[in-house]
Amino acid sequence: MEVVIVPDAKAGGELIAGTMAQLLRRRPDALLGVATGSTPLPVYQALADQVRSGAVDTSRARIAQLDEYVGLPVDHPESYRSVVRREVLEPLGIGMDAFLGPDGSAEDVQAACEAYDKALGDAGGIDLQLLGIGTDGHIGFNEPCSSLVSRTRIKTLTEQTRMDNARFFEGDVDQVPHHVITQGIGTILEARHLVLFATGEGKAEAIAATVEGPLAAVCPASALQLHPHATVVVDEAAAGKLKFADYFRYAHVNKPDWQGI
Ligand code: PGA
Repeated sequence: MEVVIVPDAKAGGELIAGTMAQLLRRRPDALLGVATGSTPLPVYQALADQVRSGAVDTSRARIAQLDEYVGLPVDHPESYRSVVRREVLEPLGIGMDAFLGPDGSAEDVQAACEAYDKALGDAGGIDLQLLGIGTDGHIGFNEPCSSLVSRTRIKTLTEQTRMDNARFFEGDVDQVPHHVITQGIGTILEARHLVLFATGEGKAEAIAATVEGPLAAVCPASALQLHPHATVVVDEAAAGKLKFADYFRYAHVNKPDWQGI
């Protein structure tokens, strides 16, 4: 696992967008797995800037969703399908025909989960999966004690996650659905490159547990320790509890440029 400590969210966004742009130059039809929430927004903004300036061509790029609320109509402004359309697809000029996501409004949720897991494999797998992290260490919506080999399935959100997400629902926790569909941890680990992005002091404890804690289902993000190509990009505040921060800085500064992240 590589940990890159960046000065702020904007620098992290530019670093990750640069990596996505490089991937798209190498593989124009790359399948990018995207995350919702506040943290990844600077990534999408930086990538959209590159599209506008002509530095990257997204005309063949494909986008896959990480998780979804169960029971929200697909056109609800806070369904993750709507969020991905608004924050990712439209700014990057990518159409819905190049989008893969689970159907959170399906009557048979279990079948929708299995269908999505299979669709990801049929599409050739995700080339780069961007991840956020919850204050409780969740990735996707895999809450603490999720199986480290889990597949896409329905999960129940913790009260903490529902409170964290209430800001997207007029601050009203009662409007936040209890259930979600999420790529499982085993599913996430199949992506060829995992990039977890975290900013702010509120994530410092979860980041320390992810990077330096034991591999344990109680911190789902610690599963990144099992992945051959996982990159954790954090700002100074989110890096605040890392014991090896100086080593991570030293390693990044001294690595050969051609290696990228
Ligand atoms: P956030 O969410 O980026 O809005 O903090 C991260 C997450 O819950 O995975």
